[in-house]
Amino acid sequence: MSATELEAVLEHARKRTEALLEPLDDEQLTRQVSPLQSPLVWDLAHIGYFEEHWLLRNGNGELGDLYDSFAHERAERGTLPILSPGEARAYVRKVREEVLERLPELAKDDFLVGMVAQHELQHVETMIQTLALAGLAGADQLPKVEAGGDVLVPGGPFTLGSDEPWAYDNERPAHVVDLPPFRIDRALVTNAEYGEFASSPDSGGENEPVQHVSFDAAEAYARWVGKRLPTEPEWEKAAKLLDDELEHARGAVWQWTSSFFDGYPGFRAFPYREYSEVFFGQTYRVLRGGSWVTDPLVARTTFRNWDLPERRQIFSGIRCASDA
Ligand SMILES: [Fe+2]
Repeated sequence: MSATELEAVLEHARKRTEALLEPLDDEQLTRQVSPLQSPLVWDLAHIGYFEEHWLLRNGNGELGDLYDSFAHERAERGTLPILSPGEARAYVRKVREEVLERLPELAKDDFLVGMVAQHELQHVETMIQTLALAGLAGADQLPKVEAGGDVLVPGGPFTLGSDEPWAYDNERPAHVVDLPPFRIDRALVTNAEYGEFASSPDSGGENEPVQHVSFDAAEAYARWVGKRLPTEPEWEKAAKLLDDELEHARGAVWQWTSSFFDGYPGFRAFPYREYSEVFFGQTYRVLRGGSWVTDPLVARTTFRNWDLPERRQIFSGIRCASDA
């Protein structure tokens, strides 16, 4: 990409951050809403820290490890001597000015610029989770569920993963996987359907997809209706081959898969182990598809999200599958 195109991508991410935080006062920005989430002002300065770290100073930024996600748990970030909202805004602005000046040179390695833009957009989603927990954000853009029934995905090989220039390490390398045939629901599970399972009057819109469902609950729901969750390769094959048949495959709610988060064969950590590799194993489950707040730049068909099986602060829902 040219420097001009990269600037547009970076500024798109920044506009989303600013639009989200602009209406909030300092108390709302500094509050620790939940032990699962950082104070919003931490996310803001961390966005600048990550940008400075990867694009300007090669790991030698001026803020030490205060904004290193691995140095401090989310629950303790409210107690750290972090920047005030005014200081954080000035800091991210200063970093961005320097990045824009250096963009012609940085464009030579545009993966890192793309990673920084995607990272900011992923934090926008994290910050909206925080606002939702604080009761300050509602799902006013959730699309309606209209489809019904399921579709048969024929057996055979397909290419899992991506070698696209901005794909993350965990999406690489693209490789062929052979799957037996299976069926997958055209629609996401709605609030009304989930409410029957949970025997609770649902609190959301009736024709809207249920969200804030944990993996454990999603799996139990699928079993209750005599189905199962798709595996991760099944989800991606269906999304790649039958994009028109699956309603809201991307951009409504994240969909739990039954797969653990792990590296594809030939995985190589890049540019740092802490993005993906440290989460591999039999602990985290994969979610696919993106939510109503996930930016289209991130919500690609091969993008892998992951979380602990009991977590439900994310915008996570259910699409069921079954054996053919
Ligand atoms: Fe981050």
